[in-house]
Amino acid sequence: MPFHLPLPETPRLETDRLVLRPLRLEDIPAVQRHFPHWAMVCHLVAKVPWPYPDDGAEINVRECLEKRARGEQFYWALTLKHGDDELIGRIDLRPDAGLGAMRGFWLAQEYWGRGLMTEAADAVNAFAFEVLDWPFIEVTTNSANRGSQRIKEKQGFTLVYVGVGGYVEGEREMSFWRLTQEAWRSRRGYAG
Ligand SMILES: CC(C)(COP(=O)(O)OP(=O)(O)OC[C@H]1O[C@@H](n2cnc3c(N)ncnc32)[C@H](O)[C@@H]1OP(=O)(O)O)[C@@H](O)C(=O)NCCC(=O)NCCS
Repeated sequence: MPFHLPLPETPRLETDRLVLRPLRLEDIPAVQRHFPHWAMVCHLVAKVPWPYPDDGAEINVRECLEKRARGEQFYWALTLKHGDDELIGRIDLRPDAGLGAMRGFWLAQEYWGRGLMTEAADAVNAFAFEVLDWPFIEVTTNSANRGSQRIKEKQGFTLVYVGVGGYVEGEREMSFWRLTQEAWRSRRGYAG
């Protein structure tokens, strides 16, 4: 079984422009401020509540921290390296459960289009493959979510199949993507 539970502690990861640190309760106000916007949620899976309740971030962050305490999932707050430590986005990682839901992310709208999520996702992929030695990462996207799909393409994910999924905006085409450790290493020029 390549996915060992419970997971180790969530490490602090750094990229050129970001610090990825463990999510914490103090992040609730920033999540409630940055997340509940239609452009943010419309392509997300239907389990995201919409309209988003006033205590939506609190419920979600508490649930995440419970899963984290059980060692089931990693949750990172994205913060700017030279900023004030405020959460500006999230990235999550969890072992395979056959659902294509191993990694998820969102970023506050004012930061879109600067390559920041690609940077964060690169660091998380490196952690999954180099440190955890996971054999693959499988994810799904709403095919209408061009920004998210493009990140997978840039990172070398292969489109495995296309189906149908339930999203906040309704039923839409769903793309299922896989990146193997082997493909990731060969793109990075590793010998083996
Ligand atoms: C998806 C999301 C995380 C992208 O964050 P980001 O920091 O803007 O992403 P990046 O800048 O690293 O990369 C986005 C890529 O998609 C491209 N892109 C963005 N919107 C696009 C569109 N409508 N059509 C085509 N390409 C698009 C960008 O040009 C960029 O590619 P490039 O580097 O080749 O130019 C952000 O838009 C977001 O939080 N969306 C809402 C939540 C969400 O959809 N999460 C993912 C669920 S699967």
